[in-house]
Amino acid sequence: MKINRDKITRLRLAITGTPGVGKHTCAKILCKKLDLELIDINKTIIENNCVAKIDKTNGNEINQKKAKKVLKKVMDFEKRFVVVGHLAPYVMESTDVDLIIVLRRNPYQLRKIYKKRRYSASKIKENVSSEILGITSYDVLKVFGKRKVAEIDITNDNIEKNVEKIEKIVNKQSIKEFGKIDWLSLIYENKDVDILLNKL
Ligand SMILES: Nc1ncnc2c1ncn2[C@@H]1O[C@H](COP(=O)(O)OP(=O)(O)OP(=O)(O)O)[C@@H](O)[C@H]1O
Ligand SMILES: [Mg+2]
Repeated sequence: MKINRDKITRLRLAITGTPGVGKHTCAKILCKKLDLELIDINKTIIENNCVAKIDKTNGNEINQKKAKKVLKKVMDFEKRFVVVGHLAPYVMESTDVDLIIVLRRNPYQLRKIYKKRRYSASKIKENVSSEILGITSYDVLKVFGKRKVAEIDITNDNIEKNVEKIEKIVNKQSIKEFGKIDWLSLIYENKDVDILLNKL
């Protein structure tokens, strides 16, 4: 029987999540370990003039149609890749990848990251709220369907351990989980709803 080597060597993965969760940090290590090409969504969008309107305060407006087309072309060229970026659910389609991992991170940790990055108060509020409400996960689920999606909480483990968790899902050594991360209950219990959602 003839073996289709293409099928064996092919690996099409996406990593997404709220800004600052650790997508690029994990993806870079994973690429080295598994010999994957890293496709950076933001970089690809900028380099191929897919920004419709520059807005430093609220975030750039993307030409979604063009970005989808350009990214598809880049992905088509690669056999083993991880495509990385928080815009994944808005500039990709389900058929582009076999698996998409949403990294999740405790909102208190995330807020510290944003403060270090000197994000504006409104940008912090927007991103922390988005993580608490699981906006990216919801949007990913809508576009890619439950069969292709997994969530990983990176909060309590070091980077290497989190990369291992991704690897295990990729290699089907651990079961994909989705919908179990609940920051809203956590901040309710801590009586921090106002601090994290309203008074940032
Ligand atoms: N697993 C981890 N555990 C603890 N800290 C981490 C982990 N992964 C990344 N970090 C730290 O979190 C910060 C943000 O990581 P990174 O820049 O990779 O996020 P990102 O999701 O790619 O952000 P952006 O969407 O803005 O590009 C970095 O300071 C990084 O060192
Ligand atoms: Mg990044």
